[in-house]
Amino acid sequence: MSVSYKELGLVTTRVMFQKAMDGGFAIPAYNFNNMEQLQSIIRGCMESDSPVILQVSSGARKYADPTLLRYMALGAVEMVKASGAKIPITLHLDHGDTFELCKSCIDSGFSSVMIDGSHLSFEENIQLTSKVVEYAHKCDVVVEGELGVLAGIEDNVAAEKSHYTQPEEVEEFVTQTGVDSLAISIGTSHGAYKFKLKEGEQVPPLRFDILEEIERRLPGFPIVLHGSSSVLPVYVDMINQYGGRLEGAVGIPEDQLRKAAKSAVCKINIDSDGRLVVTAVVRKVLAENPKEFDPRKYLGPAREELQEMIARKNKDVLGSAGHGREIMEEEEIVL
Ligand code: G3H
Ligand code: 13P
Ligand code: ZN
Repeated sequence: MSVSYKELGLVTTRVMFQKAMDGGFAIPAYNFNNMEQLQSIIRGCMESDSPVILQVSSGARKYADPTLLRYMALGAVEMVKASGAKIPITLHLDHGDTFELCKSCIDSGFSSVMIDGSHLSFEENIQLTSKVVEYAHKCDVVVEGELGVLAGIEDNVAAEKSHYTQPEEVEEFVTQTGVDSLAISIGTSHGAYKFKLKEGEQVPPLRFDILEEIERRLPGFPIVLHGSSSVLPVYVDMINQYGGRLEGAVGIPEDQLRKAAKSAVCKINIDSDGRLVVTAVVRKVLAENPKEFDPRKYLGPAREELQEMIARKNKDVLGSAGHGREIMEEEEIVL
């Protein structure tokens, strides 16, 4: 049986992105797979009064179970209402790879989907993305497309110019497909190892020149940055201190993300940073309390630390803090 996101109290990203564009901030898109991560995201966003995009990969959806996941999102909306807070929540499919997956998410209550055709030829990407947009828009669901391929760990990011989004392609892609937002590649990448730095080397800056050219060609159009975890050294060090081995993990500096958030970048994707916090705290608690075997005793502190990190990111990096209630009140007029 299919269900619309509207019945779940979820919203699309339309109003969020407009406010983010006008106000020079970005909406956080945090990935989750389980209850504790979801609680941290929602509580961290309530604490900082931030709008939020709950982001689910196809792997996460399989892991949690599609039906359970839908009710978890519904539960998050109800939890916010019960607390008296007001923040808008979008449920978004991250890196959808087929029309069928996007349709299945739309039919089970997602209010936003990404169709990632970035590995296809330009023409095939347009074709697949258009098909998803046609179905999604009939259901009043928004779609994120992607142009350009995010560099993988094996690539030399600085040298692989061909991976970056080509600004001359963006107008045709957006007009032909009708997408609502566009993910671009300007030097970010997924995971905890974004750059291979030699001794004393600095992280190379993001390609703001490409971003500016895209903004010039698509004025007022929402841009998305994937692979935007900062891989905070405090958590990498904690993991290594308590038995982990994450040598050379490095992410995107927060000042680069702050600068991006002030531009047409309206959505910033963060997954790895959350994973690192949880792993660091769980390792620490278990190492210090070897007799502990109650999951609440190690997942609870991890959940608290993650909530804190999220609230801080919303305030200091994305700038979305303080905009939740204002956006939700606008949404409620049409809900
Ligand atoms: O961009 C990918 C996200 O970090 C989700 O990763 O497919 O391991 O859930 P996942
Ligand atoms: P990170 O691996 O940098 O957190 O990126 C997450 C992401 O882009 C999800 O789509
Ligand atoms: Zn991504």
